Amino acid sequence: MDAMSGHSATSTEETLDPSDWADVQVLSHRIVDDAVAYLRDVRQRPVWQEMPGDVRDFFTASLPQSPTPLADIYGDVVDKVMPYPMGNIHPRFWSWYMGSSNFTGALGDFLAAIQGSNLGGGNHAAALMDGQVVDWCKQMMGMPASASGTLVSGGSMANIIGLTVARNTKAGIDVREHGVAAIEKPLRFYGSDQIHSCHRKGMEALGLGNRALRRIASDASLRIDIAALRAAIAEDRAAGFKPACIIGNAGTVNTGAIDDLQALAKLAHEEDMWFHVDGCIGALIAIAPENAHRVAGIEWADSIALDPHKWLHAPFEAGCALVRDASAHRETFAVTPEYLESTPRGLASGQWLHDYGLQTSRGFKALKVWMALREHGVEKFGRLIDQNIAQGHYLANLIEAELALELTAPTSINIVCFRYRAERLDSERAKALNTEIMLRLQEEGIAAISDTTVQGRHCLRVAINNHRTRREDLDLLVAETVRLGNEISAA
Ligand SMILES: Cc1ncc(COP(=O)(O)O)c(C=O)c1O
Repeated sequence: MDAMSGHSATSTEETLDPSDWADVQVLSHRIVDDAVAYLRDVRQRPVWQEMPGDVRDFFTASLPQSPTPLADIYGDVVDKVMPYPMGNIHPRFWSWYMGSSNFTGALGDFLAAIQGSNLGGGNHAAALMDGQVVDWCKQMMGMPASASGTLVSGGSMANIIGLTVARNTKAGIDVREHGVAAIEKPLRFYGSDQIHSCHRKGMEALGLGNRALRRIASDASLRIDIAALRAAIAEDRAAGFKPACIIGNAGTVNTGAIDDLQALAKLAHEEDMWFHVDGCIGALIAIAPENAHRVAGIEWADSIALDPHKWLHAPFEAGCALVRDASAHRETFAVTPEYLESTPRGLASGQWLHDYGLQTSRGFKALKVWMALREHGVEKFGRLIDQNIAQGHYLANLIEAELALELTAPTSINIVCFRYRAERLDSERAKALNTEIMLRLQEEGIAAISDTTVQGRHCLRVAINNHRTRREDLDLLVAETVRLGNEISAA
């Protein structure tokens, strides 16, 4: 037996490796060729299509006991999976808020899986790259080099990391040791009534409870009302609570409104509170030359959540939490069990990356972000963000010019809220009509948009976080929305 190659003529042990690498090579080449064609021709396919019964049934097959040739399995993927995507790589996908991925990022994910490293830490190249991508995120946000950060599954997790450090830093006791029940004065966190639902989940998971997150009214532009926030903080202090953290929105999920981050940073400083920015939608506007001014003040945050799987278009998943005070970050999560001690040299001599979050095992998310950033350069990503914001305003103008449609909220960045006018219908029927338009746009494969309710008014919502969208796609959306609205109202 050759110790380095592991080859043994007599080995009877099993392995998951193929018995014939040449076969796998041929099939793999085909898969890559198909993948290139899939992405190249995405515009020719419907955004989304409903799955027929046989496809649904296919996914109820029971646990496989015996082998199936890989070529057959790939055939099933081609028939049953690839034609029925969520659709977010399509140029006319604007539902909720997603990125549209990129081929280089997909290669990065593939290579990361091939290398197979666990980013819990250790002394290896993937770990250095993980740190480098975090450093690049700090640079994009204007955070100091001394700040820390961690790549996580997405924005929800990145927010939870920031809120956890905020809680532990402001609790006034050792929360890790004694738990939230020992906190003397109940902590209060603040955000606008437009805050994303992940903050509620975070507050609940942190043991602070949903009510400890005070929602402050937003103004007509859907930004937090700073005077109302100031008053709420004073009121809570007088009532015996401890105001601990202000959460600013750099882009709300409903309309993309950006809070006055400079004013929030100043207020947090005056009140000795933590300033966290939920930048899952808009933090990366900081790299967009025409719009960076909109997020001025983000660099003053104590912590930021941002989402490379949105405006850096990394294939899912990739989120990032940044924390100005690296030791506060590490002290919130670091534990050194006996089986994960560092050594002076060798594999365990690197930094333990799991000291900055809740996961111990971590995937190699950095590679897909790193490869795409190097391929295109950060300036191009900045220009693409400006492009999407200009497209948002282009769509808002189209809607304003179209008598059958109306805007229902101000458009500040790339999110447009509007509806088919239904003056003669009550609000329930107007909602039903607009919902039907949205569903038919999806079912006819034209466009994927979503809906929401902003300050009590139901509307359709288009979020253009898509590097494939062209203005002609938005022209089509408006024309088809009017066509469907007219058809449904006439029926
Ligand atoms: C403002 C905001 N915060 C947080 C999140 C959650 O991010 P993720 O879906 O990456 O967990 C989103 C998602 O769209 C968001 O828009």
